[in-house]
Amino acid sequence: MKKSSPPSLPFCPDLSSLTAIRPLSPAQITALLDRAENYIALSRQKNKKQPLFSGRTQINLFFENSTRTRSSFEIAGQRLGLDNVSIDIDHSSVGKGETLLDTALTLNAMQPDIVVLRHNCSGAADFLAPRLDCALINAGDGTHEHPTQALLDALTIRRAKGRLAGLNIAICGDILHSRVARSNLFCLGLLGARLRLIAPSTLLPAGIEQSGAEIFHSMAEGLQNVDVIIVLRLQKERMTGAFFSSEREYFHFFGLDAAKLAPAAPDCLVLHPGPMNRGVEIASAIADGPRSLIRTQVENGVAVRMAVIEALLTMRDYQPAGAKAARGNRPAGQKAAGGKSRV
Ligand code: NCD
Repeated sequence: MKKSSPPSLPFCPDLSSLTAIRPLSPAQITALLDRAENYIALSRQKNKKQPLFSGRTQINLFFENSTRTRSSFEIAGQRLGLDNVSIDIDHSSVGKGETLLDTALTLNAMQPDIVVLRHNCSGAADFLAPRLDCALINAGDGTHEHPTQALLDALTIRRAKGRLAGLNIAICGDILHSRVARSNLFCLGLLGARLRLIAPSTLLPAGIEQSGAEIFHSMAEGLQNVDVIIVLRLQKERMTGAFFSSEREYFHFFGLDAAKLAPAAPDCLVLHPGPMNRGVEIASAIADGPRSLIRTQVENGVAVRMAVIEALLTMRDYQPAGAKAARGNRPAGQKAAGGKSRV
């Protein structure tokens, strides 16, 4: 039954799906990060469950490969008490020609409370969110956004440095194909970080100057006095042409090793969303070294996703009673009027 009064939760009014960071406010982001802190503590306990949402159903619909994001969402949902179903796309009706929309509406008819979507098309999450009766979380759509990755990166940096505002943060590598870079530009920028992008010009999107970040084509210049470096994977699966001559040459110019790290601040920290290509964008000595927060990012990812799931389900519980009914009355696949930006 819908509750009549709004929740006294300190976070995220209007958050009924999470498809992107861009439309969020700094206050919403900060509230999610604050909430995630509780879930880090919970996940370190022997009993990791806080079944706030037992009896609810979460469906994980991953059209692209994933190790950490998918298991992180599964674990996050389970720790909050949700029953979890992960669709095995390789053995699903997608192989028989079913469209994304038909697949999603089929699952929607089973009355899930939350769908987590990863898809290779930019915009897939914004396309589906208004067509489903439940909350949708974007777990990465093409080169568009990966909002929970940006939230977990922000949480990891904030915990390690005590703040985000005023930090010099460099994002290095394949910016062109990276939804992580896009979400991080919005998220870290909204929280007051000073951002630099370091990449060969072939791996930067057109118009990137308008992002507000400083652009560099040399690691030696771009890493001067940086507090944090986020290294990105070369996303070869999205490359349609030649963007660099060889991986060896790429590593020589852009792979993060001890020599390239030297001009950074002495307490500079290194992040990578994973999966890593060792010896291509990052040297093992850095990935496994004392400045690396790569495993901490993974730990914090579960906590951030718990906070997001909690925020979405809580807000939906307090929606006016008519809202869901109105969505449910639409013919299958028909978009809700004005329902586009349900962040
Ligand atoms: C990233 C992704 O899928 O966008 N990985 C992740 O979610 N941890 C980055 C990548 O694949 O390189």
